[in-house]
Amino acid sequence: MRKLADNVFAVGVIDWDRRLFDELIPLPDGTTYNAYVIKGSEKTALVDSVDPAMTEQLIGNLVKHGVDKIDYVISHHAEQDHSGSIPDILTLYPDAQVITGKKCKDMLISLLHIEEERITVVENGETLSLGDKTLQFLATPWVHWPETFSSYLQEDKILFSCDFFGSHFASSSLFVDDESKVREAAKRYYAEIMMPFRKTISRNLEAVDNLDIKMIAPSHGPVYDNPPMIIDAYKEWVSEPVKNEVLIAYVSMHDSTRLMVEHLVEALIERGVGVKQFNLSDYDTGELAISLVDVATVILGSSTVLAGAHPAAAYAAVLVNALRPKAKFLSIIGSYGWGGRMVDQLKACIPNLRVDLIEPVMIKGCPRDDDFLELDKLADSIYEKHREIGIAD
Ligand code: FEO
Repeated sequence: MRKLADNVFAVGVIDWDRRLFDELIPLPDGTTYNAYVIKGSEKTALVDSVDPAMTEQLIGNLVKHGVDKIDYVISHHAEQDHSGSIPDILTLYPDAQVITGKKCKDMLISLLHIEEERITVVENGETLSLGDKTLQFLATPWVHWPETFSSYLQEDKILFSCDFFGSHFASSSLFVDDESKVREAAKRYYAEIMMPFRKTISRNLEAVDNLDIKMIAPSHGPVYDNPPMIIDAYKEWVSEPVKNEVLIAYVSMHDSTRLMVEHLVEALIERGVGVKQFNLSDYDTGELAISLVDVATVILGSSTVLAGAHPAAAYAAVLVNALRPKAKFLSIIGSYGWGGRMVDQLKACIPNLRVDLIEPVMIKGCPRDDDFLELDKLADSIYEKHREIGIAD
């Protein structure tokens, strides 16, 4: 059993091989489903459980380490990768009571059919005594579902934060041993599921700041024994400032749009603007999400297919819309053969974005000198917009 503090142990499971989450999110580094046991002088609590596919390993860990009694199962989040084993745990430990928030209770009943009488609801700020150890519950909603909350173990100063501060990062090390790698994995995780709720996350960070935290134990990835490392990273990611960078996500069927993108990229670099370029025919959506955390401007580039946007560009637009980055500006570039409504289609895919739309550049066929001049003007506009908000020289 891996120990965080006296009588506080990690009993979760490492999933080295998982490569996709929610049938959407790539996991290049695998993941972990973290669960913890806190043995108080009077009561024992299990903090979260694991993905249902890994229930046997969790139970094996509990049995192997002699956890013969569980009084409380703290369920911070109803998503099945943390709650999915709870029904089996309740069968194995018939006296155990699930401790959770009201919203989470409703979800546990509807998603897992847990009997209502096995669930006790706690409120923000309430405490639960295990004897010589005390859990204090802290509302940390929308990381990334509405019901999420965290627990603070007062005596050991450990924050159990569930998805909040987590990383999809399989490692045999209980604690972070490579801060730059875990920071990148945590940024990927933030970008993929929490970025749309960054205002609420910002308030959650303020609540966390009121606690004296020695350790953060999330539900995915290594435990942070240097909490400022991840708290400060989150503060940067949720903050308003954007970087002097443009993300260009494009798809090109016959090279016309590709030539436009290449010209625009050069034009932006000449103006001192950074670029992150993604060819939508083969890309990692997690990498795109990471780039969206900081960029000031997003450019969608597309060929015209059957008088509309290429489906890959439409998918990217829907994804960007869902992730709601703090980008300030957006434009669209592309090429058509005989006409179409590509720009209108892509605009309709991004209703959530609070961006200033810069005049799109659409051309007929393969770009000519005049078209490249239009792209130079677009680069000028982007540079000027960045300068106006104080991020370009
Ligand atoms: Fe790791 Fe939202 O579950």
